[in-house]
Amino acid sequence: MQTIVLATQKGGSGKSTLAIGLALAAIQAGHTVRLIETDSQGTLSNWQSRRPYAEPIVEPVYAAGDVEQRLQSLDRDGVTLTIIDTAGGVSAATTSAIRHADLCLIPARPSVADIEATASTLGLARAWHTPFAYVLNQTPIRGQRLTNAANALGEEAALDISGVVATPFIVMRNDHQDALSAGLAVNEYAPTSKSAEEIRGLWQWIEAKLGIALAVEVEHFAVEPPEAPLPTVLIETPAEAAAFVA
Ligand SMILES: Nc1ncnc2c1ncn2[C@@H]1O[C@H](COP(=O)(O)OP(=O)(O)OP(=O)(O)O)[C@@H](O)[C@H]1O
Ligand SMILES: [Mg+2]
Repeated sequence: MQTIVLATQKGGSGKSTLAIGLALAAIQAGHTVRLIETDSQGTLSNWQSRRPYAEPIVEPVYAAGDVEQRLQSLDRDGVTLTIIDTAGGVSAATTSAIRHADLCLIPARPSVADIEATASTLGLARAWHTPFAYVLNQTPIRGQRLTNAANALGEEAALDISGVVATPFIVMRNDHQDALSAGLAVNEYAPTSKSAEEIRGLWQWIEAKLGIALAVEVEHFAVEPPEAPLPTVLIETPAEAAAFVA
């Protein structure tokens, strides 16, 4: 099972919206998906209560100490992907989710305040050697401000942006809000829309990122080295991450 956590200190950056969109994109790609909500605000639970379908199940887990055990039991139950939606701010539950995830997604709007607010999450991901990527959300369709934001995130992480800033960027569109209020994901609410296309594209980027992480694991256990050479700029292993913690 793979686990993705959406985390950033800044409220309203799109953690819950992206968790829902990605969950449905992953289901459509054949995954068995569970959503875990560590945010007592209950955005995902409320969404599920408006939802006309049972899947994906949303499970509230508020105690930091319960996260690891819950992930282990979901793995045993045959879930292939768990997505954890966390609260804004800093909390023990968010820290635990980042610690036990295979990938930490850090959503940020293209604003200085959002970008500055990623620092503590980035620090946690590095401290726990969890691979991470930024997702630029609620962006304008294009423009200099967007390029500046992507570059600023790359600078924040001190890495090439192609490895740490996910693509495509998720444009600000009403579909996301309308889907949320209808108890749907944007891929269900407006399947042929640009918004749905972007979320599917983002899922493919994540799949590739997780695939690379898996290949590195295989290499570690000396089973069979991956055929394609791995890009060296990506942080994919605890050893690589440790080098950046200092
Ligand atoms: N790409 C987008 N386009 C338009 N609206 C969006 C987009 N992403 C998120 N929103 C809207 O922005 C608001 C905040 O999003 P969301 O609740 O997902 O953020 P959050 O990071 O989970 O917030 P919190 O920290 O409070 O949990 C919601 O009304 C959501 O519908
Ligand atoms: Mg939320």
